[in-house]
Amino acid sequence: MKNNKNLLMMLSCSAALFAACNGNPKKTDSTVKDSTSVTTQSIPDSANFEADVQGQKAKLFTLKNNSGATVAVTNYGGRLVSLLVPDKDGKATDVILGYDSLKSYQKPKEPYFGAIIGRYGNRIAKGKFTLDGKAYQLDINDGVNTLHGGFNGFYGKVFAAKQLSASQLELTYVSKDGEGGYPGNLTATVVYTLGDDNALKIEYKATTDKTTIVNLTNHAYFNLNGAGNPTITDNVLQINADAFLPVDTTLIPTGKLQPVKGTPFDFTTSKTIGKDIDVADEQLKNGKGYDHNFVLNKHDLTTPVATVKSTVTGITLEVFTEEPGLQFYSGNFLTGETKDGKGGKAYPHRSAFCLETQHFPDAPNQPAFASTVLKPGQTYHTVTIYKFSK
Ligand code: BGC
Repeated sequence: MKNNKNLLMMLSCSAALFAACNGNPKKTDSTVKDSTSVTTQSIPDSANFEADVQGQKAKLFTLKNNSGATVAVTNYGGRLVSLLVPDKDGKATDVILGYDSLKSYQKPKEPYFGAIIGRYGNRIAKGKFTLDGKAYQLDINDGVNTLHGGFNGFYGKVFAAKQLSASQLELTYVSKDGEGGYPGNLTATVVYTLGDDNALKIEYKATTDKTTIVNLTNHAYFNLNGAGNPTITDNVLQINADAFLPVDTTLIPTGKLQPVKGTPFDFTTSKTIGKDIDVADEQLKNGKGYDHNFVLNKHDLTTPVATVKSTVTGITLEVFTEEPGLQFYSGNFLTGETKDGKGGKAYPHRSAFCLETQHFPDAPNQPAFASTVLKPGQTYHTVTIYKFSK
């Protein structure tokens, strides 16, 4: 069923369109500013993404559909660079944070903009875990913990890229046994597909030759008012989660599942992200805002687990996933110090949010959490969809 749909989508793309999308798109338009919104209508110059990195060719790829959406992706970290969707007036609006050149993605302490996160999305306490009686030590790159795969995460790796059609890109990375401290040669494949329904489907697959752990996600930073606008606290959010995972001061889950009812974490009915973000609450203090995993209510790919809406642009994002958890991060560590965002923009504190679909943080050390173990012969397979409408 799924395959037939993909095939139809591929066939419906004309050869001319494919050539246009597969080539080297040039910057065609500039940034439009008005009193209520800053809107970028173009994607960065692909020449700024061409480089030899780790002996591999980094490039910028473009996906297009027949409904006016465009996605720019670099195979450096598998990063979503631009995601342009029509706003309520049909104006193309870039809803994700990113940079105009590869160099900015390579700077120290870059906050993982749009990256594929592996081998393990989110934190593992003290970077330690035990598998089949053997203890492993990962990089400590976030206080006392490991975060997003450590210093050697997928966000900084060049993936082998295959553009399958005008609207579909396949990225593959082989992470060697021991890389970042993780056991097993892990082959990870991520396919981005932009549907005509303005849905970006992300399909992750991985196999290993030794028992290992894996938890892949994407680290897109969204601002539905348009990337570069100063805040997301007015974006209206709903999450289908009756519970969340409280964390300690190092952002490791305590192991408890806390009901959201009566707390600032209750997004079961829509409210602005900013409504309760600054109330006195120990958990909000630990996260410096929202930086927590939500325990998603029973779901499948047919119903959204989260919905966000901008009253400025009218753009709505629906998130669909097969994963049990959703890290809602309200961009608390963005500082806006530099103006190297797309079009020379700064990205200040809370000017984007992330909704990272995943298994729970620190699952390798918390037996009550769903397992993230992958064994030889098994295939890790999971799908997440970010769907836009206006
Ligand atoms: C984490 C945040 C972190 C951000 C950027 C998010 O996934 O939950 O704590 O600051 O990634 O690193």
